[in-house]
Amino acid sequence: MPLDRLTFLGLRNLDSLDMRPSAGINLIFGANGSGKTSVLEGVHLLGMGRSFRTQQVKHAIGHDSDALVLHGRLSGSPPLPLGVRRQRASSELEMRLGGERVARVAQLAEALPLQLINPDAFRLLEGSPASRREFLDWGVFHVKHDFFAVWKGFRRALKHRNALLRHDRIDLQSIRVWEHELVQWSERLDALREAYVERFLPVFEETLAGLLSLPGLSLKYSRGWDRSRALAEVLEQGRDSDSQMGFTQQGPQRADLRIRLERRPAVEVLSRGQQKLVVSAMKLAQGRLLEALTGRTCIYLIDDLPAELDIEHRQAFCRWLERMQCQVFITSVEREALAGLWQPETAVAMFHVKQGRLMDHGQYDFTTE
Ligand SMILES: Nc1ncnc2c1ncn2[C@@H]1O[C@H](COP(=O)(O)OP(=O)(O)OP(=O)(O)O)[C@@H](O)[C@H]1O
Ligand SMILES: [Mg+2]
Repeated sequence: MPLDRLTFLGLRNLDSLDMRPSAGINLIFGANGSGKTSVLEGVHLLGMGRSFRTQQVKHAIGHDSDALVLHGRLSGSPPLPLGVRRQRASSELEMRLGGERVARVAQLAEALPLQLINPDAFRLLEGSPASRREFLDWGVFHVKHDFFAVWKGFRRALKHRNALLRHDRIDLQSIRVWEHELVQWSERLDALREAYVERFLPVFEETLAGLLSLPGLSLKYSRGWDRSRALAEVLEQGRDSDSQMGFTQQGPQRADLRIRLERRPAVEVLSRGQQKLVVSAMKLAQGRLLEALTGRTCIYLIDDLPAELDIEHRQAFCRWLERMQCQVFITSVEREALAGLWQPETAVAMFHVKQGRLMDHGQYDFTTE
């Protein structure tokens, strides 16, 4: 479901913003520092309960404001309103969905599946496995209803085992109980992740092929413990070493997606532009798979699309966005950098941000340029 209305108050430098985005492509252009990324940040906060620019939401509160109040409305009958509010004086992020207070960010995330592609996107390849696990779990979460319960059960069992490992003397009876529990949840979590990757791979390969030619690129799921051994055995035999380290060294908390070109880690071989395209293909593929499996589309936030991509690759990227028929918010400093990228039949809604004020420029027909 696309967002058909956004109202933001107290977000960074943005004046009170009232935006009526189109259900398709929304182009947001404006000078450096005008507030484009802040608009995407507002949508991200609505769907994820956190920013992609700062660990602390309070930094996104406008310098002259006491609170950040963001509302969005998902179109549909009836429409679904959602909102978040963060006051400077409080550390709590208040969240609302359908007029009711909600306690968990997962409830917002479920209603508003988002994908962000920004100039930091290459970090998905370069950064720690945690970011790739988060990517993977986003996919599983949105297509498997039991994922969240399984994940919570797993986290709880892991926390208990880790706490027991840190005791001076390990209580064998207790730790065995939690290890048993941990194994049950871990196996379920692993099965969900593995099944997801199996569905994801062909979609990813097809999406990537539409963006660039990279024969030899492979993506493999690594579950976090030795494939040839049962987790129960790994935990039992690793107990002393885990106790010395103070945490559980193997298990789903160490899962990863290994992305390689031939035999080398892709990040060591690919150019920055190629990395951005590989990550874009991963994120586009997740949206395509979400739609194929659930009939729901996700919303794409694309910050600074032209950065690092030549015209040919920008076009290939835009072809996918058009084919997917999902809602997209794209920013660019230069309006012209995004001209000539779209098929004549694609409707593109234009918005100009100038010193924190967003102005609706209506539909734009790039073909006349
Ligand atoms: N908490 C805040 N309160 C008020 N203004 C802020 C706050 N945080 C950042 N800013 C300012 O908000 C402005 C908008 O930043 P934003 O990153 O959204 O711009 P942008 O249009 O994406 O720029 P660029 O093209 O350089 O990426 C900047 O001038 C920044 O200094
Ligand atoms: Mg920006």
